Amino acid sequence: MTGPGFATLADDGEPLRVLVVGAGGMGRAWLGAVRDSPDTTLVGLVDLAPDRATAALAEAGLADVPVGTELAELARRTEPDAVIDVTVPEAHLPVTLTALSLGLPVLGEKPLAGTLPEALRLTAAAEASGRLFMVSQSRRYHPQLYALRARARGLGRIGVLSTEFFRAPRFGGFRETMAQPLLVDMAIHAFDTARWLLDAEPVAVHCASYNPPWSWYEGDAAATAVFEMANGARYVYTGSWCAPGAETSWNGSWRLSAEHGSASWDGSGPPEIEGAAGRDTEAEGPGGKGIAGSLAEFVHALRTGQRPMGEVHDNVWTLAMVFAAVESATTDRRVRIVDLLEAAHREASADAGELERERLAAWPSVVAALG
Ligand SMILES: NC(=O)c1ccc[n+]([C@@H]2O[C@H](COP(=O)([O-])OP(=O)(O)OC[C@H]3O[C@@H](n4cnc5c(N)ncnc54)[C@H](O)[C@@H]3O)[C@@H](O)[C@H]2O)c1
Repeated sequence: MTGPGFATLADDGEPLRVLVVGAGGMGRAWLGAVRDSPDTTLVGLVDLAPDRATAALAEAGLADVPVGTELAELARRTEPDAVIDVTVPEAHLPVTLTALSLGLPVLGEKPLAGTLPEALRLTAAAEASGRLFMVSQSRRYHPQLYALRARARGLGRIGVLSTEFFRAPRFGGFRETMAQPLLVDMAIHAFDTARWLLDAEPVAVHCASYNPPWSWYEGDAAATAVFEMANGARYVYTGSWCAPGAETSWNGSWRLSAEHGSASWDGSGPPEIEGAAGRDTEAEGPGGKGIAGSLAEFVHALRTGQRPMGEVHDNVWTLAMVFAAVESATTDRRVRIVDLLEAAHREASADAGELERERLAAWPSVVAALG
């Protein structure tokens, strides 16, 4: 198979049989989403820590669902139609490769993978297997964001889009020891949303990251990035994860400046539009909010063959924005996305396994392959 085509599953009127991998904080949220959707039924839960899986199932009122520590083994026992991968980022490559090589479509939590070369290996693996691999960027599924996008389209050419993100959470755990907690763990949501709002891919970025003196994070908890987008617009992200007072919403505060007017959104309520056009545009809403929305879109894609948002080829661009911003902050220079992708393609080809090797070699260029 070439390009983003994938096998569909006939709609026999039965819910999709889903196996979830990962029973941590977010895995528990996914158990609830699968349980509550009329389109899906949970047939198994895999975690390296079986006690955690058992406890998560009991909490969700799903104590009868089988548990395993290994995806291939539990898949043999439970015959799922699809896998949801909610493991830690480093495990996204092995878990998704296993699922695809078993012929199972995958809905994976963001980030697509722990590194950009791994992301390209998974893109090629999805092509080789002919199965759908979709990354859940759950923050896109917000009715007010849909409204903002629809109404902003009437404002003409866009000059600049900006996001301000200022919060002061004390997570404890891995985020407080990461080198780039804000860019890698959080800004990915805004970068993905910016691509969608602008309907344009990133070309280059200049980013500065830093750690305020009062920060409780070891790595850089604050950053400002300026992206050049393919349609000529600029996207500016500025944020801090140790910014007490006047906090923005978790989606951040947005402003869009266009030819015929401006739009703003506080990340939760209705967007505000000022300008001649764009007032009366009807917005289509998502099929559900947050992860319920991405789950509904995944099932719809498998039933119809319609390419979903977050299909792996598309989502590579979001991950590339994250790693380009990190590279720019580390080297203090402008980073071109295409250079980063080409370097990642070389590394992916060198590390490729049997499933993805031929597809990676057949790509005329990485940009052509992503489309
Ligand atoms: N969309 C969002 O808003 C959002 C929010 C939080 C987390 N996430 C994402 O969800 C994913 C999981 O995050 P979390 O906070 O639940 O992490 P977590 O550390 O709480 O849980 C991860 C679980 O995966 C299990 N695991 C790790 N490797 C495994 C493997 N190879 N096979 C089976 N199980 C394995 C661990 O034992 C653990 O129980 C991450 O990719 C994270 O970025 C997304």
